[in-house]
Amino acid sequence: MKALLLCGGEGTRLRPFTHTQPKALLPLAHQPILFHILDTLAATTIREVVIIIGPNGKPIVELLRKTNPWGFDFTFVDQPKPLGLAHTVLLAREVLGNTPFLMYLGDNVLDEPLRPLVNRFVREKPDALLLLRRVKNPRHFGVARINGQNVVHVEEKPNEPQSNLALVGVYLFSPAIHQAVQVISPSPRGELEITDAIQQLIAEGKNVAYHLFSGWWKDTGTVTDLLATNQYLLKKLTSAVDGEVKKSTVKGVLRVAKGSTLKNCRVKGPVTIGAGCRISGATLGPYVAIGDGAEIVDSNISHSLVFTDAHVKGVTFTNSIIGERVRISGQQKTAPVRSLLVGADAILEL
Ligand code: G1P
Repeated sequence: MKALLLCGGEGTRLRPFTHTQPKALLPLAHQPILFHILDTLAATTIREVVIIIGPNGKPIVELLRKTNPWGFDFTFVDQPKPLGLAHTVLLAREVLGNTPFLMYLGDNVLDEPLRPLVNRFVREKPDALLLLRRVKNPRHFGVARINGQNVVHVEEKPNEPQSNLALVGVYLFSPAIHQAVQVISPSPRGELEITDAIQQLIAEGKNVAYHLFSGWWKDTGTVTDLLATNQYLLKKLTSAVDGEVKKSTVKGVLRVAKGSTLKNCRVKGPVTIGAGCRISGATLGPYVAIGDGAEIVDSNISHSLVFTDAHVKGVTFTNSIIGERVRISGQQKTAPVRSLLVGADAILEL
């Protein structure tokens, strides 16, 4: 069994951050989203991972050529234009061969072990096995209707959903999907939808099974969902201080990587700090992840992500994302900011 991991999206709803890096590399709880996904895949029997990358995907290839603690055998396939999820199956036809595969959307983070799902697929050999979850807002997702053990209808973002069962971005397919993606036409949004290919399988009388799960799941397509996912992942961390913490009070979980110093700080975990950071006079947390090489002085930060090499001085903010190498400085009386979204290399005086 192989994995097909889709990282070709443009991430338009995550601008400005996706101007400078692909969505899959945005760091949550100090790891790219992609690494959280690969951790999940590594706990299955899958060893071969085909990654679809878009025009901005070169950094993904470079990173995975350097870093591969999972021992995966990676193949990269270009998707020059975002023509849909089913389009990626057409593009990967040759490298996937006639092996069944697990398709994983590179912006989905879920807290569900996939090994039992893969094992069930191998044992029962359906044509497709879908992961479903009950949601409050089914209109935003692919929606499935089930009957007994089978999925009997799927539809992409319907105006009138036939159920509240959303298609999670993890699908297991037999090679039968390759014929199905060839007969469908682009949807109104101009994309070849994987949901239509699944509906094609159903129409042909193929066996489409499902697994209903109730665990944690987010499609990290928006800033709100990105911060919520960061929060969830931070909650799972345990303390590890490899840097130096001086004259500071610490409550809850704190991780400080090598070469970082915290001085005169108040920390309310969970908080994670990358390597080589200089932090002083700051109140941090809860739910803060700070990238390598950042410098934070006299600031108060909660529920936020601060990316690599950012410099922050004299500001108070929450629910914010500060891009790589950003420089922000505030005056003594600068008012607290509720949501600050600053793209890479910006210089901001508040
Ligand atoms: C895609 C799929 C949709 C699925 C969702 C899960 O939507 O088309 O069926 O429910 O992912 O994240 P997109 O996020 O591409 O709009």
